[in-house]
Amino acid sequence: MNTQLSPNDLTGVVEADRAHLWHHLIQHKPFETTDPRIIVEGKGMRVWDQHGKEHLDGVSGGVWTVNVGYGRERIANAVRDQLIQMNYFANSAGSIPGARFAEKLIDKMPGMSRVYYVNSGSEANEKVFKMVRQIAHKRHGGRKHKILYRERDYHGSTLAAMSAGGQYERNAQYGPFAPGFVEVPHCLEYRAQWDTENYGERAADAIEEVILREGPDTVGALCLEPVTAGGGVITPPDGYWPRVQEICQKYDVLLHIDEVVCGLGRTGTWFGYQNYGVEPDFVTMAKGVASGYAAIACVATTEEVFSMFKQEPDDPMDYFRDISTFGGCTAGPAAALENMAIIEEEGLLANTIEMGARLMGNLEALKEKHAVVGDVRGKGLFAGAELVADRATKEPAHEKTVQAVVADCMAQGFVIGATNRSVPGFNNTLCLSPALIATPDDIDALTDAIDAALTRVYP
Ligand SMILES: Cc1ncc(COP(=O)(O)O)c(C=O)c1O
Repeated sequence: MNTQLSPNDLTGVVEADRAHLWHHLIQHKPFETTDPRIIVEGKGMRVWDQHGKEHLDGVSGGVWTVNVGYGRERIANAVRDQLIQMNYFANSAGSIPGARFAEKLIDKMPGMSRVYYVNSGSEANEKVFKMVRQIAHKRHGGRKHKILYRERDYHGSTLAAMSAGGQYERNAQYGPFAPGFVEVPHCLEYRAQWDTENYGERAADAIEEVILREGPDTVGALCLEPVTAGGGVITPPDGYWPRVQEICQKYDVLLHIDEVVCGLGRTGTWFGYQNYGVEPDFVTMAKGVASGYAAIACVATTEEVFSMFKQEPDDPMDYFRDISTFGGCTAGPAAALENMAIIEEEGLLANTIEMGARLMGNLEALKEKHAVVGDVRGKGLFAGAELVADRATKEPAHEKTVQAVVADCMAQGFVIGATNRSVPGFNNTLCLSPALIATPDDIDALTDAIDAALTRVYP
């Protein structure tokens, strides 16, 4: 660790944190007797905590974010230069990095043409919900306003995003939610809901059933993760996406793909949907857009959608009457430009495919070895291992034991994740999303650590 501070110097930091910081998604009672974790430094795939202990980060900053790895000076330099030249102006005006990044981003997204800048994944999704609602008013007398979302998917922490949230443990106690959001069934074949050979098509047909039940003239959009992340790393079964696309076209339902996790490289393509030949109307992205070097999220949409918001220039209510103050920060697109350049120059999409295959192979080997591993799933450097107490019945492993595996890895110096406060009874999937720069040694070290942890926790 290069930090100038000795661990003793951080005692005050730990105490300030304990006294005043409210951490995300965590119970704080234990911090009365144990220290909160402070991450002090990062380089490449590795981070160091307040004790100077090194960890190999298998989840890119905890929540699949730091895709190009830590300590990238060229991103920091680009942001610094940009902030000195021009840090902020409301995005009703443009900026140099804003225009340049939009152009480069659209270049990676055939069929898309416009980019709307905001701060977070939740906010990006909310913007799409507003666009869908306004389109319903413009074209369908307000009637085609319902937004479908899928069981087990997550679209963010704000109230409208939670209204589209398919994870009961994230939502419970925070209602009532916004009206007009309707759930469709998940598509996880390991937890099959239909006995059929064409599972993908059947799971997609379930969406059509919901549209018909609700009335096609009331359904405006369908919002899906390309690969469900926090709901269990659910890769779509074969045949799912083509049928979903067909259904959306049949009922004039706009397709909104939430790429907040998969966006920019995670699955080995720029976006997750590009693995499945889907043509979305909206794509939202956040975490991997600038790898956490600056807060930036985007909505990308088609020219067809965009043009609906400039049809009646004399009508003051015609355009998208929305603003995101920090959507005008230039640090985000400045960082995003460098982030994208790094992915291209270092061949990180190809590395993601290669290392992803290695990761899946290693996880399959763990499944052979440990009865507790019921299913392994993934795409690129985005993988999950679902743990079960009984392979035959598929009874989920108890959450406490799953957390014990995560804690054991942490003690060994490896950060891995697990589904957390997600679907009741199903917080049982280990999650891996190493940075796209991972080497074969990194991948093997991560899965070796999980192997050792599984052996200890489930002897
Ligand atoms: C698929 C997905 N969508 C949206 C979000 C919300 O993003 P944010 O936390 O930036 O608001 C997340 C966050 O984990 C996510 O996983």
